[in-house]
Amino acid sequence: MTTRRSIIAGNWKMNTSLDEAVSLASQVVEGAAEFDGVDRILIPPFPWIIPVRDALSGSGITVGAQTCYHEDSGAFTGEVSPTMLAPLCSHVVLGHSERRHILGEDDAAVAARLEAVLRTSLSPILCVGETLEEREAGNANAVVERQLRSALAGITQADMSRVVIAYEPVWAIGTGVAASADDAQEMAAFVRSTIGALHGSTAGDGVQIQYGGSVKSSNAEELMACPDVDGALVGGASLDAGEFVAIIRAAAAGG
Ligand code: PGA
Repeated sequence: MTTRRSIIAGNWKMNTSLDEAVSLASQVVEGAAEFDGVDRILIPPFPWIIPVRDALSGSGITVGAQTCYHEDSGAFTGEVSPTMLAPLCSHVVLGHSERRHILGEDDAAVAARLEAVLRTSLSPILCVGETLEEREAGNANAVVERQLRSALAGITQADMSRVVIAYEPVWAIGTGVAASADDAQEMAAFVRSTIGALHGSTAGDGVQIQYGGSVKSSNAEELMACPDVDGALVGGASLDAGEFVAIIRAAAAGG
């Protein structure tokens, strides 16, 4: 059986001023530098990546990006490429539900971005998850399986070992209502078996799977104790250093 490292990432979304970003990063360093058994990533808005990276220097905590484009350079106004991010970041989030549902990224766009990211040294955090409607119609597994297959079917086994999956049910993101530990565990196990079917059981056993959607200090312990959940992608609670450090602590204890 594989031992997987826990992985906690804070997705700041389109929040923080420059001063707030640097101060938040410094507070996280103070509280979380000691938990070096956990992969810890801060994911600020693009303009704050360099100052946040500087604030994290020497702490073992890395910086990530919230999205990227699928081309390396060219006439794509407003876009940022994986090759630009690679010298700065450890991870890049792809297919976040806000990108899929508000900004119109479909499965094909997510797959193209993933392929481009895998040509660099970055690790993609691929987000998958169903809407409430899809869950109520009994289609949650089918939706998640479609999202996984579309992004991952064409990649190599070696590349698969760099991919992190975040299971984020859309109805739990920013709502204050997290999935129950049972539901999170059930879907994480389904994600693991789907990846096992695509790329073999070593890939399935080894892949880090995060749960995301209203994770906070009060529910982190229970969620991190799920055997197939290896960490969390945290939105709102990652803007509060105390909350975020408490979630990292729960992962260090549970993982
Ligand atoms: P939330 O967001 O923790 O605020 O629900 C999670 C996410 O969007 O990654």
